[in-house]
Amino acid sequence: MSDINWDLLWSEARNMLQFSYCPYSNFPVGAAAVTTDGKLVKGCNVENASYGLGLCAECSLVSDLASKGGGKLAALVVVASDGKPVAPCGRCRQLLWEHGGKTMQIMSSEGPIQFATLLPDAFGPEDLLTRTVHD
Ligand code: THU
Repeated sequence: MSDINWDLLWSEARNMLQFSYCPYSNFPVGAAAVTTDGKLVKGCNVENASYGLGLCAECSLVSDLASKGGGKLAALVVVASDGKPVAPCGRCRQLLWEHGGKTMQIMSSEGPIQFATLLPDAFGPEDLLTRTVHD
């Protein structure tokens, strides 16, 4: 989609940094995305004393998407406090695949790229739909 307002996504993602709860890593992450029907959704990382249970910003963004009625993500910006894009971790790539798929655009250090670049040969909902063997 060429009509993505990347400036808005950048500023919304950066604005989310203030809400990050990251006392363990001190690495705030903010995220903002727009859906194909124009909804803006946002997230920030939320860490936990158990360390491993911390939530990434993309994870909280996906929850925001669900709470706003769902939809398909068209474009996403994830940013750290240095103002540069963050490449989603492996778990978040899988989470995002479900709601953005291969055509979602994500801001990288090189500019917007197709999400399929970050998760080639992905496993997704279609596998369950088309490959479940019934008796
Ligand atoms: N983090 C995210 O929120 N998103 C990513 O894609 C990479 C990492 C968070 C998790 C943790 O709270 C902090 O960054 C340091 O890893």
